[in-house]
Amino acid sequence: MKIKEIYETMNYGPAPEDAGEAIQFLENHKKKFDLFINGKWVTPDSGTYFDSINPSTKEKLAKISEANHTDVNKAVAAAKKALPEWIAIGAHQRARYLYALARQIQKHSRLFAVLESLDNGKPIRETRDVDIPIVARHFYHHAGWAQLRDTELKAYKEVGVIGQIIPWNFPLMMLSWKIAPALAMGNTIVLKPAEFTSLTALLFAEICEQIGLPNGVVNIITGHGKTGAALVDHKDVNKIAFTGSTEVGKTIRRATAGTGKKLSLELGGKSPFMVFEDADLDSVVEGIVDAIWFNQGQVCCAGSRLLVQESIAETLYEKIRARMENLRIGNALDKSIDMGAIVDSVQLKTIKDLVKVGVDEGSTLWQPSWTCPKEGYFYPPTLFTDVSPASTIAQEEIFGPVLVAMSFRTHKEAVKLANNTRYGLACSIWTENINLALDIAPQIKAGTAWINCTNVFDAAAGFGGYRESGFGREGGKEGLMEYLKPRVNDNFTDQPILKPSQKQKEAVANTATPLGIDRTTKMYIGGKQARPDGGYSTVIKSNNGDYVGEVSKGNRKDIRNAVEAAHASSNWVNKTGHARAQVLYYLAENLAIRRIEFADRIVQMTNQSPTDALQEVDVSIERIYTYAALADKYDGQVHHTIHRNVTLAMPEAIGVMGVVCPDESPLLGFISTVIPAITMGNSVVVIPSEKLPFSATDFYQILETSDVPAGTVNIVTGNKDELTQVLAKHDDVDAIWYFGTSEGCKNVELLSADNMKRTWVNYGKYRNWLDKAQGEGNEFLKHASQIKNIWIPYGA
Ligand code: NAI
Ligand code: MG
Repeated sequence: MKIKEIYETMNYGPAPEDAGEAIQFLENHKKKFDLFINGKWVTPDSGTYFDSINPSTKEKLAKISEANHTDVNKAVAAAKKALPEWIAIGAHQRARYLYALARQIQKHSRLFAVLESLDNGKPIRETRDVDIPIVARHFYHHAGWAQLRDTELKAYKEVGVIGQIIPWNFPLMMLSWKIAPALAMGNTIVLKPAEFTSLTALLFAEICEQIGLPNGVVNIITGHGKTGAALVDHKDVNKIAFTGSTEVGKTIRRATAGTGKKLSLELGGKSPFMVFEDADLDSVVEGIVDAIWFNQGQVCCAGSRLLVQESIAETLYEKIRARMENLRIGNALDKSIDMGAIVDSVQLKTIKDLVKVGVDEGSTLWQPSWTCPKEGYFYPPTLFTDVSPASTIAQEEIFGPVLVAMSFRTHKEAVKLANNTRYGLACSIWTENINLALDIAPQIKAGTAWINCTNVFDAAAGFGGYRESGFGREGGKEGLMEYLKPRVNDNFTDQPILKPSQKQKEAVANTATPLGIDRTTKMYIGGKQARPDGGYSTVIKSNNGDYVGEVSKGNRKDIRNAVEAAHASSNWVNKTGHARAQVLYYLAENLAIRRIEFADRIVQMTNQSPTDALQEVDVSIERIYTYAALADKYDGQVHHTIHRNVTLAMPEAIGVMGVVCPDESPLLGFISTVIPAITMGNSVVVIPSEKLPFSATDFYQILETSDVPAGTVNIVTGNKDELTQVLAKHDDVDAIWYFGTSEGCKNVELLSADNMKRTWVNYGKYRNWLDKAQGEGNEFLKHASQIKNIWIPYGA
């Protein structure tokens, strides 16, 4: 083409990035990679290798080892062996290693970017300007956290050996989000990259060698899902951190149930991109390009559901189509393309299949007039309109460059549509009205809310999901918690610390009339005393075998009613911390007035000494004070990100929580679990101690005379394990705390996988509820809340 002709057409020419150094790296390894275990390159025990391809061209790039069980064992053993020394060198030395990693990544940033684009098919413009800078930033930021661990996070210690499994969409970025915080907090690592994109992780292994990271601190093993599963199942792995599909996330939840392995899951999404009628539509269009065509839409938090106010819908669609017509697609190493290749033929097929479903279901498909290059795995940007909210393409994650659009009329309808998904990873809100944006953001059930921006990430801000998008956060101070455990956990015991009295039981005060001894206690649902659906009650006897009373035998119907009542109670979550504090103080005051009666009841059930029983009541009263005090103080942060943003990290209620109380300490166990849950604004369905239920049922008399809205606390008595099963399986329960047997804990974790409930269980260990360090505080509030990061850009 002549220069004159170029001036006439103004077409872009090819602007290929030089791949020389990346090819050289592959050749240095003879295009065949072993496993990186204990600081050495080890041939896989399986003897098997598989190909990694370049999706822009379908060319083979290199052979990658398939790690089997033996290899996984070796890697975990190396990480375990390296752990004591890695702990011993201390925070500052670890900080120096992290800093060295950051520097080294920066020095080789272009090599990393090119290699990533070759292996994944994502545009070099993105790997160079987004992926790799974020990777370096993560190591720098966490070098800082490594330095500060022992001063800023005194109450915590490392978890141990961490197994990390990452996806192919942001290979090195996901590696950095996992490795940087884990190392910074003093853990050692076995990481498995995704089978389509292992190369940058292997280059990273070389960087670890170059900086002299102690052997075994980071081990990189490659392979498919089976390798990942072997890592998940390994008994010496103390935590699994996973990013990938919701399906595999659920498998991992089930596989680790009851093992005590810590778990964080960052899963799929179907995030709403909400456009209100006063939004700046030209900015919106560029936002959409970033939301759904960045990385070919293979982004867990992609704004894949466009929700537009009806009045501007057609205008916006027109602008989007015009922009789509101008997008450029091609080889990932071409510097002037907007979109690269889909990672693999498998993923391309998934996209094509789901698009076909969309067409078959009657939605209107639009694609640009130009055609994609033939030599690689390409898929054009795609827009669906006339989409019904219940259709497959509106509900399923497509993980490709496919945008589905729906319209709404009112703000209320917008919120309802946005939350009409089983996922909850992110949302993007576009309006020029800050009041509207800040009214909508808290109403969307998602871990990140971007206001007039989208797909912005930073090491200083947490990222992670609500609901079936998984749990745990990466980045920010909240992300560090995934790689720490409270030091106090080491003090938990294998046996309960109960003090049954040797003496014949005696009343606390002769004058006291025990509450409700002459009747069967009812349950408490929706602010009312409720008879059990089944019409059965159970006799409760004390430790000495004396008759104490009868308690209603709840069944699945009662649990369902309680969950419904809990959902109907929206007044509580909308109260300010200050308002909740006042209600809590009032509860404590009412309990204090009846302290003798409550102590007597404890004596009746447990035969404890009156002194111990009174102590239990007094500590319970004090505990309510603690949470009343914390109600307006357990607050969030404004993160210092690298963007011109305020990023508000807000703890929010999880929603409806199931609370299964410990069997020891009938009153204090109930108070210590229920009060923190409601302090954060949750509504609860409580299963009190099966053997000692009356302190809980007596407590509803206190609730009735307070200002706790109906439905906030619901109490269902009966068989602990039966009722827990129903709660754990219930799709409208968002979280469950369980204090009981090891077997019970395992069941809760197993059954909770279906809707990805947050779980907090005691793995059969006992806390001393009288001890403040074990029985109360921020740790409880942390498990009763989830953090939403709201990004608000500022500046012109
Ligand atoms: P995947 O969830 O199967 O793979 C992610 C990682 O998990 C890979 O390293 C894989 O080897 C490993 N893995 C697979 N099965 C495992 C098992 N049973 N135990 C332990 N590790 C296992 O995701 P895949 O198949 O690559 O993509 C399928 C769909 O998942 C995509 O279409 C997309 O919808 C979603 N996805 C979501 C991602 C996210 O960031 N949330 C990332 C990648 C995929
Ligand atoms: Mg590849």
